[in-house]
Amino acid sequence: MAYKVLHVGAGGFGEYWCREYLPPNIADGTIEVVGLVDINPKALEIGRKHLNLESAQCFTSAAQAFGAVDADLCTIVVPPAHHESIVDLALGRGMHILSEKPIADTMEASVRIADKVKAAGRKMGVTMSHRFDQDKSTLRAIVSNDALGPINTVSGRFAGDYRSYDSWGRFRHEMVHPMLIEGAVHHLDIIADLAGAPCTSIYARTWKPQWAEYKGDTDVIVVMDFANGSHGVYEGSSTQATGLNSWCSEYFRVEAAFGTAILDHREIEVFHRDPNRIKQLSRHGKGQKVQLLPGVKWENALLIEQFCHWLDGGPPMPTNVEDNLQSVALVFAAIESARLGQPVKVQEFLQSFRNSASITPR
Ligand SMILES: NC(=O)c1ccc[n+]([C@@H]2O[C@H](COP(=O)([O-])OP(=O)(O)OC[C@H]3O[C@@H](n4cnc5c(N)ncnc54)[C@H](O)[C@@H]3O)[C@@H](O)[C@H]2O)c1
Repeated sequence: MAYKVLHVGAGGFGEYWCREYLPPNIADGTIEVVGLVDINPKALEIGRKHLNLESAQCFTSAAQAFGAVDADLCTIVVPPAHHESIVDLALGRGMHILSEKPIADTMEASVRIADKVKAAGRKMGVTMSHRFDQDKSTLRAIVSNDALGPINTVSGRFAGDYRSYDSWGRFRHEMVHPMLIEGAVHHLDIIADLAGAPCTSIYARTWKPQWAEYKGDTDVIVVMDFANGSHGVYEGSSTQATGLNSWCSEYFRVEAAFGTAILDHREIEVFHRDPNRIKQLSRHGKGQKVQLLPGVKWENALLIEQFCHWLDGGPPMPTNVEDNLQSVALVFAAIESARLGQPVKVQEFLQSFRNSASITPR
């Protein structure tokens, strides 16, 4: 049975959804899009055409759309500060929710959302798209089968050239901590996934170079400790001069007991330690090349399918909202660390919000 979807947000990344992510799932009968919302009529019209919808199925007001459309689930692709109000509308109509990351723009709102979803007995998933891209999934498969042994460190680099105003979507130039909340949420999530255990401690430095046309901090360095004894290091910049490791071309390196795996610009190479040598030398570019995993759906197209399998009665998708609080906690604990100038214990930080959380609306 195709699940009926009300899609909210047709501009910006929402256009990708209407053009790239929803259509393959419509084509194979996983979903049927029955309504579309965007406050911007131009974006709405573009989305309507991509999805072949009637004008009567399209709305410029979310409240109106939720009042008029019968759907099993809603998909949310609007800026994070608006996620909670759409979640409230969806839960008011008994709908399940698949939302863009981050869960919300604050730790408090993220925990409130997870608690409201649980109280309503609905399911909510979050699209950590990049963790489910083909290249990152291949790297994960390599390091999680233990062929390289226990993991020591995971390093990640994002270096994008988005310094000019409006080059990374206006709201990111106006918000606090755009790199951590809008960008690093993906990369810290990937590092934690590759490390294979919850993050225990995080230490972050954030700043904004003079050429950054932003209100908030665009550059970060983060150090992490994980519960299995592994460690993470991340450098993120949305003002880097040359776009060296921009979106979908990031750098990740996993150092394990018996080898190294490097992902750079969607190419993966692996180095194995020779146990017969007392010491060994290797060099980037000279490792064993690894083919990317085969597959038809990746990123959000895959996550829509995973969500629907969960609705079918399958196991919760890995990025269910409860588990995804870990990724949001990484971001907001990093912000707290930058504010304090010292490491923050991530699980205690998350728990402090759970203890004080309330499911009453804002
Ligand atoms: N997973 C990824 O790789 C990825 C990439 C880009 C953006 N995102 C996420 O997608 C979400 C949207 O980001 P964006 O870059 O598309 O933002 P954007 O500002 O470019 O576009 C947002 C769209 O939502 C519409 N909108 C805003 N408020 C609305 C409301 N209350 N009701 C209906 N429509 C509304 C706007 O008119 C606009 O068309 C964010 O959560 C962002 O983090 C994820």
